[in-house]
Amino acid sequence: MNDIFESLESEVRSYSRTWPTTFDRASGSWLYGEDGTPYLDFFAGAGALNYGHNNPLLKRKLLEYMERDGVTHGLDQATVAKREFLETVQDKLLEPRGLNYKAQFPGPTGTNSVEGALKLARKITGRESIISFTNAFHGMTLGSLSVTGNSMKRGGAGIPLVHSTPMPYDNYFEGQYPDFLYFERLLEDSGSGLNSPAAVIVETLQGEGGINSSRPEWLRGLADVCQRHGMLLIVDDVQMGCGRTGPFFSFEEAGVTPDIVCLSKSIGGYGMPLAMTLIKPEHDVWEPGEHNGTFRGNNPSFITGSEALRQYWSDDALQKSTIAKGERVGEVLDGIVAEHSGAESKGRGLARGLGFEDPEIANRVSRAAFDRKMILETSGPQSEVIKIMPPLTVTDDELERGLQVLTDSVQAVLG
Ligand SMILES: Cc1ncc(COP(=O)(O)O)c(C=O)c1O
Repeated sequence: MNDIFESLESEVRSYSRTWPTTFDRASGSWLYGEDGTPYLDFFAGAGALNYGHNNPLLKRKLLEYMERDGVTHGLDQATVAKREFLETVQDKLLEPRGLNYKAQFPGPTGTNSVEGALKLARKITGRESIISFTNAFHGMTLGSLSVTGNSMKRGGAGIPLVHSTPMPYDNYFEGQYPDFLYFERLLEDSGSGLNSPAAVIVETLQGEGGINSSRPEWLRGLADVCQRHGMLLIVDDVQMGCGRTGPFFSFEEAGVTPDIVCLSKSIGGYGMPLAMTLIKPEHDVWEPGEHNGTFRGNNPSFITGSEALRQYWSDDALQKSTIAKGERVGEVLDGIVAEHSGAESKGRGLARGLGFEDPEIANRVSRAAFDRKMILETSGPQSEVIKIMPPLTVTDDELERGLQVLTDSVQAVLG
């Protein structure tokens, strides 16, 4: 590998260490090294590439837009691309689901959406404290870090991370206690020391935290607790939205309607930056420009994002195929678990995980997969879970091939 990465790029780089090769091209479920070696990508940009690399349907629209000198940068000015995107969001996402939200375009990353959501919740309620969950991941800026669980990431803040309180996520105590026992007790006890929270921020399935899937009834219970205690419900769908778990929004299955929804990663469709925060209209109390930034909305991403919604969310074909492919992954994981004690099958839709008691194993499996030319990330507080997240557009053949490489890699490590 060219040493410019070592000599010039900061020590903070990480994925280039996990997968030590230099990539050049990418198409669909494949990344190609500069020497032409194909790598099967079951990582999908951590959920930013749900429609695959350089999806040809989206690329065509992007090239047409670039060719005609469509506005590339425009802060949050009104543009034709943005109008088309908003109309498509309304037609393809909100109306069919009976959802009523206003859309805010913060800076283009997931953490920008989370920061805005936390600020807005505090402004709406006049309260400062936020409830987050064990093993949550919401991003790297200070507000998002304050609601993130991982101690290594939190340590990077260099200052106390305050005004947030972690609560046990679903199944944290493995069913030993009723849901929300501790949380409700603290809320109801004036001696508990818990300030009335402004909001609860939750991932319905924790991607970075170890592919921990919450149950629909747990989410409904959470929505109910929020309602009874005047707390806003923020669903961070940055990684699990855009169809990753099957339906477009990961909370649809539970039938809850969050007050605020954070989206980024695949909302732009093509792997280019874009974030969108959905806000119930009655909560849209921002003053003009109160939360701004240079890169709010990204016009080329509006173009590809609109086309992705038209191509993949005009019917339920993608949702059904994601669920079916996810079940196939689950079958293979169950088979691996049956053969190797200490392994656990996790997740739903095409956000799947294979957890190991010994945290070293997942890293070794990831390395063994890379030796077999496949990209598999790990997640969880000790990187103890192999994360299986192919593009949703993965073909059946590619899926089988990847599952075989996974099985072989586990076999190579565990014998
Ligand atoms: C659930 C969730 N929220 C927020 C973020 C932060 O997004 P970004 O890295 O784009 O800031 C991530 C990133 O993985 C995420 O998974």
